[in-house]
Amino acid sequence: MKASKVKQLEKKHVVQTYTRAGFVLEKGKDCYVFDKEGKKYLDLVGGIACTPIGHGNNYLASKVFEQAKKLLNVSNLYYTEPQVELAEKLAKLSGLDKCFFCNSGAEANEAAIKLARKYKKKTEIIVMEHGFHGRTFGALAATWKPKIKKAFKPLVPGFKFVKYNDVKAIEKAISKKTAAVMLEPIQGEAGIIVPDKDYLKNVSKLCKKKNILLILDEVQSGNGRTGEYFCFKHSKIKPDIVTSAKGIANGIPLGVMIASNKVAAGFGKGDHASTFGGNNLASAAANATIDFILKKKLMKKAVKVGDYFIKKLHQLKANKKIIKEVRGKGLMIGVELNKEVKPIIEKCYNEGLIIATGGKYVLRFLPPLTLKKKHVNQVIKVLSDVL
Ligand SMILES: Cc1ncc(COP(=O)(O)O)c(C=O)c1O
Repeated sequence: MKASKVKQLEKKHVVQTYTRAGFVLEKGKDCYVFDKEGKKYLDLVGGIACTPIGHGNNYLASKVFEQAKKLLNVSNLYYTEPQVELAEKLAKLSGLDKCFFCNSGAEANEAAIKLARKYKKKTEIIVMEHGFHGRTFGALAATWKPKIKKAFKPLVPGFKFVKYNDVKAIEKAISKKTAAVMLEPIQGEAGIIVPDKDYLKNVSKLCKKKNILLILDEVQSGNGRTGEYFCFKHSKIKPDIVTSAKGIANGIPLGVMIASNKVAAGFGKGDHASTFGGNNLASAAANATIDFILKKKLMKKAVKVGDYFIKKLHQLKANKKIIKEVRGKGLMIGVELNKEVKPIIEKCYNEGLIIATGGKYVLRFLPPLTLKKKHVNQVIKVLSDVL
C-alpha cells in the first residue's frame, strides 16, 4: 500500500483523536525506524517510552514467536507459567509482593485507585498538578490537564490536586477521608519534571506517619529508563502500590499494578479482572524484555549515555538562547525551549530525527536504552543546526 493510501484510509476509517506526523512508519531496527519510502529515522520517542530494548529485537521476536505457537491466551480462569514467572520478577524488582495484570497504563492506575479505596475504605486520593495517569475515567480524574477533562464531566470524584515537588502541600491536603497519595516519580507528559532529590523520601515518610497509601505511577519512568528498573528505587523507599506499562513488554500491550502483601489483600475474588491481563503472549514478551535489559546491563548503559546526552545538551544550551532548561534522569530527558517546539520537531523529521513533545515547549526524549554516544552526537549536530 502506498503512503498516500495509508493516510487516506486513516482519515476515512480511524477515529480522528490523534495528530500524526506526515510519514508512514513500516519497520525498525534497534534505535532506527524506516518509513514507507525507505527513509531512515533515529527514533528518540521509542513508541513513547515503549521500546527499552529497541525495535526488531531478535531475542524478543524469537520468544514471542515461540509463545505464539504454543498458547496465546486462556484467560485468568486458569494457571499459566509465563504470568507467574513475570510476577515473581516484578516482585523482586519492585520489592513488593503481588501483581495484578492488565493491558495499559490507564488500566493499571484504575486498579490502583480501586484497590486503595477498597483497602482503606476511604474515597479521597491526593494527586499532583500537571500529573498524567491516563484517559479512562478514574485515571482521567487523577490527571491534571483541564483541557482534556472538560468535555467528559462528571468525572470520578475524590481527587484533590496539590503542587508537585511540595511535601507541605500534600500534608495540608490530607483529611480524614484520604486513602492515598498518587504521583509520578518524574512527571513525563508534563515535560520531564524531575523533583528534588529528597522529595519521594519525604512523601513516603509523610504517608507512613499519616497512615495513608503511597501509589507511584511508573508507567513512563519505569522499565530501567532512569538507571533503576523502577525510578523510586533511587530514593530507597517502599511504596504501597506501583503501576507499570509502556516499556514493560517492549511494545506488546501489558500493564501491571504491584502491591505489598498487606495492601493486595484488600482485593478479594471477583473484585477486579481483565480478560487479556497477563496473557501468555504479553507475559512471555515482558519476561524476555526484562531478561534482555538485565543481561545486557541496559540500565547502566542508559545512565552512561543519558549523562552524556544531558551534558551535551547543557553545552548546546550555552550557545543557544532558545533553550530555557535541560532536565532529566538517565534516558528520560526534556529540553524546554522559549518557543513552541512543533515546527522544530517538523524540521527534525526532515533531518531524520524523531522527537516527541512534552507539552507545547518541551522536546522530550524517551529512546531505546540501547542508544549510543554516536546517536547522541547525531542528535546534537541536528539540534545545533535546527535550533
Ligand atoms: C505516567 C503515565 N501514566 C499513565 C499513562 C497512561 O498509559 P496508557 O496510555 O498505556 O493508558 C501514561 C501515558 O502516557 C503515563 O505517562
